[in-house]
Amino acid sequence: MATRLSRTESYSLLALSLACFGILANTLQGEGEPLIASIAFSGLAFSFCYALIRWLGNAFMHRGFKGKDLCKLKQTEIPETMGAVCAMVYLSIIVVFIPWPFYKDIVAATSGGGNRDVMKEIEQVETGRLLHRFPHNKLASYLSAILSLQCIVLLGIGDDLFDIRWRHKVFIPAIAAIPMLIVYFVDFGVTQMVVPTPLRPYLGELLDIGWLYYVYMALLSIFSSNSINILAGINGIEVAQSLVIALLIVFNDCLYLFVTPYPHPATDSHLFSLYLLLPFIGVSLALLMHNWYPAKVFVGDTYCYFAGMVFAVDGILGHFSKTLILLLLPQGFNFIYSAPQLFHLVPCPRHRLPHLNPRTGLLECSRAEFKKPLTRPIAESLKLLHRLRMLDVEVDKEGTVVSCSNFTIINLWLVWFGPMREDQLALGLLGFQTAVGLMGLFIRHRMALLVFTQDNL
Ligand code: UD1
Ligand code: MG
Repeated sequence: MATRLSRTESYSLLALSLACFGILANTLQGEGEPLIASIAFSGLAFSFCYALIRWLGNAFMHRGFKGKDLCKLKQTEIPETMGAVCAMVYLSIIVVFIPWPFYKDIVAATSGGGNRDVMKEIEQVETGRLLHRFPHNKLASYLSAILSLQCIVLLGIGDDLFDIRWRHKVFIPAIAAIPMLIVYFVDFGVTQMVVPTPLRPYLGELLDIGWLYYVYMALLSIFSSNSINILAGINGIEVAQSLVIALLIVFNDCLYLFVTPYPHPATDSHLFSLYLLLPFIGVSLALLMHNWYPAKVFVGDTYCYFAGMVFAVDGILGHFSKTLILLLLPQGFNFIYSAPQLFHLVPCPRHRLPHLNPRTGLLECSRAEFKKPLTRPIAESLKLLHRLRMLDVEVDKEGTVVSCSNFTIINLWLVWFGPMREDQLALGLLGFQTAVGLMGLFIRHRMALLVFTQDNL
C-alpha cells in the first residue's frame, strides 16, 4: 500500500479540513448550532482517519498487526486492526464535540454569553447555584456512551492482540455496556414494553419486565457487536454493512427531526443519535475506501465490536432499540443460521470465508469437511436443508454426508447465485441488506398500527 498520500489526496483532504474548521468557527458566532458542528466534525473525522490509515499502516505491520488476504491468488500481507485507528479518531472527535450540544445550556447556566447583563452575586457564582439549569442528565448519557465505546475499543484491541477464544469474547460487549446501562437505570429507568394489540387482553397495555429489560439491553449489545464480526471475510463487507445500518438509522432520525412537526418528544433523542452516528460515518467511509476490493487494509475485530457498540449505544440511549433490531435482521439471520457451527453441532473451521477458485478467479462457497461421520439426526437435518436449498451438501456413494457449505449467508449467497467475483458478492449482499433495512423501516412506521395502537412518529 502506498504509505504517502498522493498530491490530489493531500489537497482534497486539506481543503475539506479547512472548510470544516471554517464552519466550526462560524458555529461559535451564533448559538453553537450543534448539528452543523457535528457535520463539520464528521468531515474532519473522515480526513484525519483517511490520512492516519495511510501513515500508520506500516507501523502496524511492524508490530505484527497484519493478515493474509485469503481470497486472492497472491496472498500478500496487509495491515490489520485499522479499526483501532478509526475508533481513536472517532473517540477524539466526539470528546472535542462535547461543548457544542451544551453550548446554549452552558451560556444560560453560567450567565455568560447572551446573559452577560444578568448581575450575579459573587456567592452564587462560587456555590454554582445556577447550574441547576444545566441538563446534567443529558451530559451523563453522552459521557456514558463515550465510556462504553472506550471500553469496547480496549477489549477489541485486546482481542486483536491475543485472539481471545470465541466462548469468552462473546461476553466482551456485556462488560462494555455497563456504564451506559447504569445511566439508563438512573435516568430513564423505563423497563416497560408496549404490548402488541392482539396480546393486550392477556398482558395489559404495558408490560413491566423489570431487570429483564437490562438483560435484554446487554444481550442487544452482545448481539450487535458479534453479529457484525461473523458476517465477515470478504473485502469491504464489515465496514460497508455498518455504513448501511448507520445510514438507515440516520434516515430514520431525519424522519423524526425534519418530517414530523417540531417539537416532537423524541427530537432530543434522535439528535443525540445523529451526534454519535455522523462522525462514525466519517471514519467508516475513510476506512471503506481502503478496505473495499481489492483491500489495502483489514479492519480487525476492533472495528466490528466498535461498530456494533456504536449501534447498541445509539439505539438504547436514543430509545429506538426495537427499530435497531429491524435494521439488524440480516445479521440476525446470519447469526441464527450460523448457530449449528457456533455451537459445534457441525464442525466449524477457523475460517468460513468463501474459497477462491484459482482457475476461474471467482469465489465459491467454502466447505466444512467431516472426517468422522455425523450422527444420524444431524446428517438428516443437513440433507433436509439441502433439499430446501438452504445449504449445499455433498454425499458419497453410500449416502453418508462428507461435506457441506459453511453456515454463513455469504456462502449461502454463493450456493444460490453461483460463483462470482469478490466485489460482486459484497455488492449483492449489501443490496439485499439495504432492501431488508428499508422494508424494516417501512414496516416500523406503516404497519406498526396493525400491531400497536399508534406509531410514535
Ligand atoms: C470471523 C468468522 C470467520 C471468518 C473471519 C473473517 C465466525 C465464527 N468467524 O472470525 O469464519 O473467516 O471472521 O474475517 O464466523 N480476511 C480475508 N479477507 C477479508 C477479511 C478477512 O482474507 O476481507 C482474513 C484475513 O486473513 C484476516 C482474517 O480474515 O487476517 C481476520 O479474521 P478474524 O477477524 O481474526 O476472524 P474472526 O473474527 O475470529
Ligand atoms: Mg473478525
